[in-house]
Amino acid sequence: MMSIYLNNAATTWPKPQSVPDAIYDFIANRGANVARGSASIRDLQSLDNVFTCRQKLAELLGGYKKRDPRFITLTSNVTESINIIIKGFLRPGMRAITTSMEHNAVIRPLRRAESEGACVDILQCSMKGYLDPAFLKKNLSEGADIAIINQCSNVSGSLQNIDDIAQVCKESNVPLVVDCAQTAGIIPISAEDLGVAALCFTGHKGLFGPQGTGGIVWDPEFAKRCTTLYEGGTGSLSHEEFQPYQMPDKFEAGTPNLPGIAGLLASLEWIEKEGIKKIREHEDYLGKKLKEGLMGIKGLKIIGPGHDDQRLPVYSININGMDNAKIARDLSDIYGIETRPGLHCAPLAHRTLGTFPEGALRISPGYFNTEDEIDLTINALAEISKG
Ligand SMILES: Cc1ncc(COP(=O)(O)O)c(C=O)c1O
Repeated sequence: MMSIYLNNAATTWPKPQSVPDAIYDFIANRGANVARGSASIRDLQSLDNVFTCRQKLAELLGGYKKRDPRFITLTSNVTESINIIIKGFLRPGMRAITTSMEHNAVIRPLRRAESEGACVDILQCSMKGYLDPAFLKKNLSEGADIAIINQCSNVSGSLQNIDDIAQVCKESNVPLVVDCAQTAGIIPISAEDLGVAALCFTGHKGLFGPQGTGGIVWDPEFAKRCTTLYEGGTGSLSHEEFQPYQMPDKFEAGTPNLPGIAGLLASLEWIEKEGIKKIREHEDYLGKKLKEGLMGIKGLKIIGPGHDDQRLPVYSININGMDNAKIARDLSDIYGIETRPGLHCAPLAHRTLGTFPEGALRISPGYFNTEDEIDLTINALAEISKG
């Protein structure tokens, strides 16, 4: 049976062919560590790969100081990026603001910080998944040390008004950290233009890179205010017993995921050639087609955003109170369609959207899906809805 992959919000698949090719090439033919060799050609190639990857990320995500690659930290995923910031910045007695649409990548480290004496306030979003910037402003006026906000929900696809949110944070003088897990590579964004403290991204979703890659775009001043999560070898300043203060070494101890970085670099080059606009247009087109088809299925409810709301093509649905896990299994076993049921690591988002504890079935098309695949999915769901 052919497989139809509609779980791109979990991780995009397939990847552009150049991505596995670059990973294979790195391991088979290059493989030198970074800044830990004799400056052979192979060593320099590794250095160049990492530098170029940072530079491309700085260009794509609007890095500070004229896209200076030093202010890009490479991590294993956005969860690590968010942990570096929360654990490096938030101290007992400080107040953090976040929203009720966050992923556990934000909520769990915040809950831990709260258990250690920080104050964490979770602002309620609307039932469509949106944060009202005026509500944020009112809350920030009571005093806050940091705001951490998801740009797009991985449950409902609700796209926050990040321009207004960033403006409110700037006016209130509160550092804003944006979780761009679902948007990096899909929505044009500039950390420096928005004036955010940090953008956190993951490499394996909209950036089409391999799992185990991610990072942070820093405001250099905010990076100075965070302590390190790890310390260790950086291949630099080896005479020092303390972690170097300079960027990017400060937040990167230990050998990085070099095969992953080679793959991420290949995917960034692919995005450059393909163009974000074209990628977004195709995904939006498929999303709208899917939505129209879903709306025609009796008993099927689309969770979250309304008709004209800003969103990405991440659709969560419920059908007539049917078990979401059972629908997902039927889609997979009978039709070869891959989706994701459950709570999507975002229980608070489901509470906000009114789908806790039963959750929902998430269908998230991606750039490599076709119109035919969307039609087949709509037909399959129509059949399943009839029991
Ligand atoms: C909004 C959001 N934040 C954080 C994450 C965590 O991503 P990762 O597992 O790559 O760290 C995800 C993944 O689904 C997400 O959608």
